[in-house]
Amino acid sequence: MNPFKYGQIVTDLDFCPRPQLEKELKGHIISGQNVLIEGERRTGKSSLIIKTAKEIKNFRTVYIDINQIKTVNNLIGRITNSLISMDKESHLFEKLVKVVSSLRPSISIDSLTGSPSISFSTNQTMPPQSVENLLEFIYLEHSNRKNIIVFDEFQDILNLKDYKSIIVIMRSRIQFHSGMPYIFSGSVRKNMDKIFYDPDSPFFKSAIKLEIGALEKKIFRKYIKKKFLSGKKIIDTSLIDSIFINSGEKPGDVQEFCNALWSITEYNTTIKQDNIDNALKVIFSREKEFFEHTISLLTGHQLRCLTALANLGGKSIQSGRFLEYSGIIHASSAKKAVTRLANLKIIYEYKKEYHFNSPFFRTWLIHKNY
Ligand SMILES: Nc1ncnc2c1ncn2[C@@H]1O[C@H](COP(=O)(O)OP(=O)(O)OP(=O)(O)O)[C@@H](O)[C@H]1O
Ligand SMILES: [Mg+2]
Repeated sequence: MNPFKYGQIVTDLDFCPRPQLEKELKGHIISGQNVLIEGERRTGKSSLIIKTAKEIKNFRTVYIDINQIKTVNNLIGRITNSLISMDKESHLFEKLVKVVSSLRPSISIDSLTGSPSISFSTNQTMPPQSVENLLEFIYLEHSNRKNIIVFDEFQDILNLKDYKSIIVIMRSRIQFHSGMPYIFSGSVRKNMDKIFYDPDSPFFKSAIKLEIGALEKKIFRKYIKKKFLSGKKIIDTSLIDSIFINSGEKPGDVQEFCNALWSITEYNTTIKQDNIDNALKVIFSREKEFFEHTISLLTGHQLRCLTALANLGGKSIQSGRFLEYSGIIHASSAKKAVTRLANLKIIYEYKKEYHFNSPFFRTWLIHKNY
């Protein structure tokens, strides 16, 4: 079986240790401190939270992923169903049904697993106060057994039409929940910052920030070598480093690369540069359609800017060199093109530098000589 996993939360033996971050996060949780976790897509935010929380004795995790929620009903649905799946044995389900009874829930039982779930009619718009009742309910339960509340992809709270009143309500309850740690995680920095660093926001500076980025190289190399060895495949450090370069050191992309490399190599072998090149081809063939479609959305200017970014990096997009490379005359046009690329989520800006969302897209542009 391919030991490299991507596109999913990794725990246990699939989790490459991040000792410093795990220690910090654990410390905050135990002291009841609220935490804000920020990092790009596929850097391992969710995995770090789940893995760390799981290892803390006497705490249980209420993991609420609010990715792509659109309405208060969605939010309430996500919270209630997270509670149900967290606690199958106790009488929490019956108590929970009472809390939400005024919202006229529909209760269904999965015929295969026998697990109950709750859904709410989309016709009825729920009052933001229902979120308050649920948070209070969790806090009351906390006196029986300690909870860690995780709101993953928290920036999507901003999708709600009445998000302002929701976050006022959430914050006003959360501040009284002493000793019950909340973790807010998100990948869209601009929106997370709007919630946590805008002085007008109720959440202003209400949580301590942890930045998640690349894994520590030395530890990740050891992890990768060991995984390959499970199939008697030997890989040396320089080849792992070339995987890091091609994958922009993003944990999820590194794992995707290793997954492809594993799939094209025999058991009992020493991995060579050729294999690395072929693994890259496997990834390109999987993603080609998406890359080509993305390019079809761009104007000539924008594409030239993109290739300049791929080849020169994204530090100084208004420099003479960048303009010359991209064949763009005015710095303001380059800025406009780059803004469009960011709006299309092809690139993102971090610390005054532009980066590709998919490192493989960058490599592909270079390989194709675009
Ligand atoms: N500690 C780790 N050890 C090994 N691989 C990891 C680790 N953390 C993340 N990964 C890799 O990254 C992938 C994505 O991890 P995860 O879903 O935790 O990231 P995320 O930052 O929450 O991503 P997203 O923003 O897309 O939700 C995993 O499937 C795995 O391939
Ligand atoms: Mg995640």
